[in-house]
Amino acid sequence: MTTPSPTPSPTEGPQLWELTVRVEGSLAELVADLLLNAGCKGTAEEVPLARTGARRVRGYVFPPTELAREAVLEAFGEGLRTTGIAELDSLAVDAQLIPAGGWEEKWKERWRPFRIGCFVVVPLGQETALRPSDRMLPIEPGGAFGTGLHPTTRMCLLYLRDLARRETRPRRTLDIGTGTGILALAAEQLGHTPLLAIEISESSCRAARPNFERARSKAQLVCATPAALHSRFELLLANIETETLVELAPELARLAEPGAMLISSGIDRLRFDKVDAAFRAQGFALLSRNERGKWAAGWWERRSS
Ligand SMILES: C[S@@+](CC[C@H](N)C(=O)[O-])C[C@H]1O[C@@H](n2cnc3c(N)ncnc32)[C@H](O)[C@@H]1O
Repeated sequence: MTTPSPTPSPTEGPQLWELTVRVEGSLAELVADLLLNAGCKGTAEEVPLARTGARRVRGYVFPPTELAREAVLEAFGEGLRTTGIAELDSLAVDAQLIPAGGWEEKWKERWRPFRIGCFVVVPLGQETALRPSDRMLPIEPGGAFGTGLHPTTRMCLLYLRDLARRETRPRRTLDIGTGTGILALAAEQLGHTPLLAIEISESSCRAARPNFERARSKAQLVCATPAALHSRFELLLANIETETLVELAPELARLAEPGAMLISSGIDRLRFDKVDAAFRAQGFALLSRNERGKWAAGWWERRSS
């Protein structure tokens, strides 16, 4: 790994470090995870639709001090070495100070259509060639969570893809904390219908609605929490933070049919066992567990009524 050459930006106002690494596509996710583990506040992957070829992975460091940058670079270098992958030993990192202001809009300049399993996330106003088996997710975040770039969303989408490979397909589906609607739209595309998407935040609900409309979704979107619901579902999706999941476990059990599937993420990797214990106490059995960086996801089945 070469030493970064900082290029101070002439822009006034708050700044942050942007670390850019160019890496072979198959290693991009691993490098993004290592950047997060090293202390980056977020990452962005330039993910072309082709499965091969080099791509850029960016990590963002705040505060914009040399000390913070060096600490992240040191931890990142250590992380690279622990992988034992020779190709990562000589990885060059370019560090630049960029304006933090308008960040929410700025990152979108680099947001291009990208693939997650059979899903292709297509940002608003962009187009891309699709394969016949592709499932298109037209997403404009508008301040809501769920671009598809976050590891928790990605792991849920991959579990949905895996679920679709099973013979029996759960129908009545509930997406709790829909954010942009990304998981709901993905589930609907795979035939998990009828579908109800709920969201506690009114502003996220407002942001999600146009995404459902653009996707010509028949799903119902309601600004509510699980406590307001009375029907039961065959598939539950819940990408919500760790402690909320633990609190919600009895509600999830109340809303799950016997045999229902629960796909959940937003879980701090180190507290996965706490979530699993809360779910187990409510009759959910863990079928699969996955991890990306500091995040974990799981797939459970409701065994008892
Ligand atoms: C991590 S985001 C997930 C968004 C999207 N489902 C995804 O996977 O990318 C979690 C969402 O859950 C919402 N949320 C948190 N607690 C909730 C609750 N008790 N009921 C409904 N929504 C909730 C938040 O407002 C937020 O939009």
